[in-house]
Amino acid sequence: MSPWLGEAEAQAVADVVRGGWITEGPHARAFSDQLNHLIGTPYGVLAPNGTLALALGLMALEIGQGDEVLVPDTTFIGSATAVHMVGAVPVLVDVDDQTFQIDMNRAAAGLTSRTRAIMPVHLFGTACDMTAVLDFAVKHRLAVIEDAAQGIGVTFGGRHVGSLGDVGCFSFFADKTITTGEGGYVACKDQHVYNRLRLLRNQGRLDRGSFIHEAIGYNFRMTDLQCAIGVAQLARLDQVISRKTELLQRYQAGLQRISAVRMLGAAPNAGHVPFRCVLMAQDVRGLMTHLEAAGVETRSFFHPLHRQPGLRAWSASRVEGMHLDDASFPNANYGWDHGVCLPIQPTLSLAEVDFICDSIAEFYGV
Ligand SMILES: Cc1ncc(COP(=O)(O)O)c(C=O)c1O
Repeated sequence: MSPWLGEAEAQAVADVVRGGWITEGPHARAFSDQLNHLIGTPYGVLAPNGTLALALGLMALEIGQGDEVLVPDTTFIGSATAVHMVGAVPVLVDVDDQTFQIDMNRAAAGLTSRTRAIMPVHLFGTACDMTAVLDFAVKHRLAVIEDAAQGIGVTFGGRHVGSLGDVGCFSFFADKTITTGEGGYVACKDQHVYNRLRLLRNQGRLDRGSFIHEAIGYNFRMTDLQCAIGVAQLARLDQVISRKTELLQRYQAGLQRISAVRMLGAAPNAGHVPFRCVLMAQDVRGLMTHLEAAGVETRSFFHPLHRQPGLRAWSASRVEGMHLDDASFPNANYGWDHGVCLPIQPTLSLAEVDFICDSIAEFYGV
């Protein structure tokens, strides 16, 4: 799952080092402006990583101690730990059995008088049903924090994910569609929220250099070294997306003949930037062992949050009657039992995809 870094990124970092200004500066401004343009929001702030972008977004929306936030059961743990970090409680909702995105038909079951927000998580390079999420949020007066950590380039109804909720949070970790090593972004459309984000991320100041701190804030900054890499990565975004799409189509062609596997594609009304190539497969653990022996690196599906030992112990003691049993999350369990992610980094060759498809066919005796 290695990133696509080249001469442009090396040159960008060297330029920053030679220039001598390594904290947020001209490259941070350029990266932020370009992200706003891509996402389609007027405002946004950088954050050190996707988890902290989510925590910052929650804080800016004044979600905190004792509040409850609806979070899908299938996601990376950072979605839930960001909620935990601000003192709120993640209340888990099962996912849809086809798309494995949050199932909005089940969200109402998690509502209590303390529910303040919902966190749709756009997984695997496609999107949640944001029409249903936004309707639900209006009906129940909830804030919407989009976890778009995996969502660069992904659209819902023609709009970039992260621009539809109150805040949209992105990650630039090394396995993401574009990377800065570690990095994050919080996009928003409301100026009041933007000003809160700015105060919270920079020690309660709107501008650097002052020792007058008008609010309580923290340090959620990035560096210009990372942002210079980000600008270089954005310049190759179209190339990355078209290469990944080409690889996905090759997988589709190669796996068509194997009835024991089903590839996940775009969710309804959503675009698809194949951040991962996800299969639902029979005997998935056997398949993963077979592929590993053939030298192919795979990733499992996300382990359902209701089964995460740390989170279970903490949540059960906080919310009376919280459902954390397997029976409440059949689809998240199904995903864990059958899902596998195949390599789809842009540096992969078509011949390597063919080899992986042949190895899968061999495993199923096709
Ligand atoms: C869905 C999701 N949410 C949150 C995160 C957290 O991002 P980061 O690793 O940058 O903290 C990730 C990262 O993999 C993710 O995939």
